[in-house]
Parts: sequence; C-alpha cells; structure tokens
Amino acid sequence: MTSTSLRPPVAPLPEPKGYPLVGNALDYRLHPLDFYTHCAELGDMVRLRFGKHPVYFVNHPDLIKSVLVTHGACFMGRAAGRESRFFDPLFGHGLAVSEGTFWRRMRRLVQPVFQRQHLAAYGDIAVTLAQAELATWPRAQWLGIRDRTTRLTRKIVAKICFGEAGITHFTSINTVLDAALAEYDHRDRNWLLYLLPEHFPTPSNRRYQQAAKDLDVLLYDLIATQRRTQADDGSMLTQLLQVQDDTGAGMSDREIRDELVNVVIGHDTLSDVLGWAWWQMAQHPEVEAQLVAEWQTVLNGRSPTLADLPQLTYTERVITETLRLYPLAWVTGRVCTQACEIDGHPIHPGENVVMCQWVTHYDPRFFDQPHEFNPDRWAPETAKHLPPYAYYPFGGGARACIGRGLTMMETVLLLAEIGQRFCLHPFPHQTITPHPGPSFSLRPQPALQMELLSR
Ligand code: HEM
Repeated sequence: MTSTSLRPPVAPLPEPKGYPLVGNALDYRLHPLDFYTHCAELGDMVRLRFGKHPVYFVNHPDLIKSVLVTHGACFMGRAAGRESRFFDPLFGHGLAVSEGTFWRRMRRLVQPVFQRQHLAAYGDIAVTLAQAELATWPRAQWLGIRDRTTRLTRKIVAKICFGEAGITHFTSINTVLDAALAEYDHRDRNWLLYLLPEHFPTPSNRRYQQAAKDLDVLLYDLIATQRRTQADDGSMLTQLLQVQDDTGAGMSDREIRDELVNVVIGHDTLSDVLGWAWWQMAQHPEVEAQLVAEWQTVLNGRSPTLADLPQLTYTERVITETLRLYPLAWVTGRVCTQACEIDGHPIHPGENVVMCQWVTHYDPRFFDQPHEFNPDRWAPETAKHLPPYAYYPFGGGARACIGRGLTMMETVLLLAEIGQRFCLHPFPHQTITPHPGPSFSLRPQPALQMELLSR
C-alpha cells in the first residue's frame, strides 16, 4: 500500500500534551519510540516542546525530503552546545559532527575512500577475518552474540582503517573504545547527568576523558608511523594521508584522527544489523531456507566476494528489511539556520526539526503489515511503488551516510559467509525488544543469547 498525498496542512499544528517547564522532554526521555509513534498519530507535522523551544516533528516522506533535500541548505546537523562539547573528546570534528565549509571540505576529501574500487578489498578483509574469528567461537553453547559480533566488526574496521597495524594494536584499540563508549552509554542511561556541565569531574566523566586521551595517544602514534614509513597497504589511513583539496593541501593528523574515529564508531552499528538479521531469521525459518538456497546456488560453499553481490539479491533484501524494522539511526535532527517553510509552516533560525526513521518505517500508509518481517517487499516490482523517504535508514540529502555502500556490502557478505557455515539459534522463549541507545543504536534488549551450530 503506498500513498504520497499529503493531508491538508493543519494550522495551528497539533501538539502532544506536555508538562509545565519541561514540555514533552520527559515523555521523550522515558519512552522515545512510543513517544514519537504517539505524536505521529496527531499528524504529518507536529509541534513539540522540549524545554522552552519548539521542535517540529515531520513524519510524512514528502516532508522529510523537504527538510533533508529540498530545503537541506536551510539546516545544519546539530546545534553547538553543551551536549556537542561532551562528544568532542571522542568524535573531534569528524564528518558526523561538523558543519559548514569545514564539513564540505572534509566530505570531499573523505568520500573517495568509500568508493567502489576500494570496497572489494574491504569485503575481502571482512570475509577473511570472519573465518578466523568464527573458528574461535565455542560451538553448542549460549553466547552473548553482540560481544562476539562487535569484536569481529571492530577487527574488520581496525584492519580497513589501519592495515596490519590495526590488527597488531587491536587489543589496545578495542579496550580504549570500550572504555570511552561505556561512559557514553552511562551518560545516556543516567540522563540527569545532562544537568551538570559537560566537563564536571564525575568519576564517569574522568574515565571518559581518560579513555579519549588514551585513544588519541594510540591513533596519533599509528598516524605518525604511517607518515614515516609511507607503506602503501591500501588502508583508509594510507589513503587519507595522500588526499589533497583543490589548493593542494592535505589533511592534518588531527583531521585524519577525527575521521577515522568516526568511521570506527560508525562501523560498530554493523554488529547490531547482523544480530537483528539472525534474530529475524530464527523467527522465520522460511526466510532462512530461502537464504540457504540462494547461498547454495550462488556460492556453493565458497566464500563470497564483492563480485557475487549482484546475485545475492535475497540476502540483500533480508538486510534491507532488517534495517526497516530496526533502523539503527532511528531518529535524525536538523537545526534551522535560514528561515524556510515546511508544508506551509514557517521555521525560524534556531528552531529544530526532527524526523524519526522508526515511525516512518512502520507507517501502514507505505508498508503493508508493517510489523511483519517480509524481505519480499523489497522485490523491485513492489519496492518501486514506495515514495522516496518512506525508507531512509541512511538519512538523505548532502549529509546522507557516507558508510552506506560499505555497510550494505559488508553485512551481505558476512551474513552469507557466516550463514553458509553456521546456524545461530536464539535462546528459547526470549522476548527481545529494540532499545534506543545513544546516538546510532537500536540494541536488542535483553542482549541476544544465541547458540552456534555447524550447518
Ligand atoms: C547500519 C549502519 C549505519 C546506519 C543505519 C547509518 C546511518 C546514518 C545516517 C542516518 C546518517 C545521517 C545522519 C544525519 O542526517 O544527520 C549517517 C551519517 C554518517 N554515517 Fe552512517 N550509518 C551506518 C553505518 C555507517 C558506517 C559503517 C560508517 C563508517 C564507515 C558511517 C559513517 C557515517 C558518517 C561519517 C556520517 C556523517 C556524514 C556527513 O554528515 O557527511 N555510517 N549514517
């Protein structure tokens, strides 16, 4: 079922009930997914209040396109403020958190390392490391699958970013990342901490600052070694050391460090994509059977490569559908920098607009039986009726995810490589729900326990 027609603009915009002073912030904080789902029932554009500022929530694909693409130049990604200063020690000024001319320059410099000609090498790294890592997973025991897949995807990204040095220093990189991200999660779970200044020396903040410093020491050392040796190992680091802008200027160590941290942290999402795909395969044996049949026909037991992707169509549909039901970047925000109108409603500089992938991906106007896991809805004949921006797990417009191609390639290859050799059975009678975590994550809760059996 598809529709692109907008309801007539409602004036004034509907508003969910809120509380004095905090407005809707409390409901949002307590149950973010339910909150946005409820708000979407009020209309395609809804006025929210987080504190004293209005926030516009748009949830029709045409309006989402209007914000991300048509009026994209009137918005920036995030407001400078206390929260963004908290991210600085970790993310620095990487693409995901920078703006304006600085962002434009960096996007142009970094984009080439994600181009197709490099994906084959990244894909080979993923498959080879998966084979090695899988050999260490115990059989016929319950495993916390996220810990295992995160270790695997971290190893893959360490090698993609730093070549062999990424593997040599993997344990240190992994340990400091875990330490930094644990404090990041801690802040998200204990949101009263947001009331304190971002550098207030709580024990958690001190651990966070220390982990970020340790990460800097490691990464600047890797960058310095690579600058000195100039070994051409095809890693992202090597490529970033060689890129130049129109004036012939290259990237500074700081810029390279920031971009690589963004890549490494962005890449962490892949472990949850795989976890959710396995969870859905376990609920749908018919999907698993169709996957196995595709792998037998296309691969017949050999490992997949980039060249197999055009034939692994059903595997790709499974990943696409997984990202519909579990859009890890479940919400996207913009801050208005230049006055514009969205659906006839004026938006002023400083005001926020928010879009929620979680809500749009479950909208019955665009997806039949939206709660059903149905990879066949992505068959070209059906998918072509879908309006643009009814499905947008990777965002859109100028700031669309730079890692989209890498994510799709790698998750399809990993699902095929691992799935050909092993079945993953979830712990019986688990009830798993998606839990929106900090930044890009919609994690299974409780953590998925699975058993690995040879196929
Ligand atoms: C399932 C996996 C992923 C999802 C769902 C996802 C989603 C997104 C979304 C929605 C955006 C746009 C944010 C916005 O509009 O404000 C984005 C941006 C970005 N993503 Fe991803 N991403 C994924 C994987 C990755 C990977 C693997 C990398 C790195 C290798 C990556 C790096 C980035 C970067 C650097 C940006 C900022 C781009 C810019 O502003 O120029 N992402 N991602």
